[in-house]
Amino acid sequence: MPGDDFIISEVRGLYALDSRGNPTVKAVVKTKGGGRGYALAPSGASKGSKEALELRDGGKRWRGLGVSKALALLEEEVAPRLRGMDSRMQEETDKMLSLIDGTGNKSRIGANTTIAVSMAVAKAAAETAGIPLYRYLGGVSSNVLPVPLLNVINGGVHAGNKLDFQEFMIIPVGADSFIEALRMASETYHELKEILKKRYGPGATNVGDEGGFAPPIERAEEALGLLDEAVRGAGYMPGDHFLYGIDAAASQFYDASTGSYAVEGKSLSRGELLDFYVGLTERYDIAYIEDPFEENDMEGFGELTNKLRGKVLVCGDDLYATNPRYLEEGLARGATTAAIAKVNQIGTLTEAVDFAVKAMRSGVRVVVSHRSGDTEDPFIADLAVALKTGLIKTGAPSRGERTSKYNRLIEIEYELGALASYPGPRVFRP
Ligand code: PGA
Ligand code: ZN
Repeated sequence: MPGDDFIISEVRGLYALDSRGNPTVKAVVKTKGGGRGYALAPSGASKGSKEALELRDGGKRWRGLGVSKALALLEEEVAPRLRGMDSRMQEETDKMLSLIDGTGNKSRIGANTTIAVSMAVAKAAAETAGIPLYRYLGGVSSNVLPVPLLNVINGGVHAGNKLDFQEFMIIPVGADSFIEALRMASETYHELKEILKKRYGPGATNVGDEGGFAPPIERAEEALGLLDEAVRGAGYMPGDHFLYGIDAAASQFYDASTGSYAVEGKSLSRGELLDFYVGLTERYDIAYIEDPFEENDMEGFGELTNKLRGKVLVCGDDLYATNPRYLEEGLARGATTAAIAKVNQIGTLTEAVDFAVKAMRSGVRVVVSHRSGDTEDPFIADLAVALKTGLIKTGAPSRGERTSKYNRLIEIEYELGALASYPGPRVFRP
């Protein structure tokens, strides 16, 4: 195909709904060669304060969450400047988006605008080239399927129950392919559903924002006990077939005025909360803890990282907000052994990839992640394979916006055939 085919001929924005029923930005990018990229911006609920900002209309329409201003800026300012650029020059088009925005955090034209356009440019270029997105972004060696961290019990701001920690995840490491891992996870998810129904009644099987159950329990210990029961009930061994993960999302239950954490009816200091985590890791096969402390406490993260080194990945989500600047500080202080990469936290694909590459080069594991308000766009599935992170976090094995990623990964594994590999427990070893 001639190089001219990759020239961007059209950039449009449309309204779309996210999985919570709120409006979001859908970007459409077309190339002269007939490539089309459609991409949807996701949206978080437990957002970090260091994240790039979404542009929302305010007022009454869409209960203040409209994206009419964002779409107007997309049409009036973004489209004219991107038209005529080469869709393969992702760094250039992403730089242009940051330049048009002109702020440090995408607050003028909105990270919802920039990330939708940024992803749509990549998709349009891949389609013009006639190669799958993971290959286009990652090249010939992108053959590693990610181990999924499946959030099967929801709490925190993602559910209406009293669990303080936001996510309890099952991690199917004892499989030799992605589809086998997903089968084991689906069986365990349904086993858990039956246990919950028997113990707490049918209302306990209602699901939270990420498709995990939201049972009327209050203690982390109860949630982990349920995971153990479900794994065994499904015929698997905790520690062998499955490991567990927690996303505490601790900023949500941190009280800055007292410097303490409200956990299970008690007010805990950082040190007490650290002991609480360590206790849980002694009783359950936990291999992953995300955001154990509030989003600015690099020191607390570092203490837990040191305490659990070689045993548990300690991961920064709100701590880094996919921003290379905060990552550098974390690296210098040895704050974590893993980092979450959420493309909309930083607002362009190029910046998110820079963040991930920088982390991995420094020996920090990267987890490509969805948002609690997500869409049917499977972009992050391709991104995880492209980056060879070996880890993805995209919710329970239910709800369309979560299964779109899992189903895309099944497709990729099928396309790769004998080239595909599934890392299993290896990703948790140093
Ligand atoms: P969010 O939560 O998308 O609501 O911010 C997800 C997470 O904390 O990992
Ligand atoms: Zn998180």
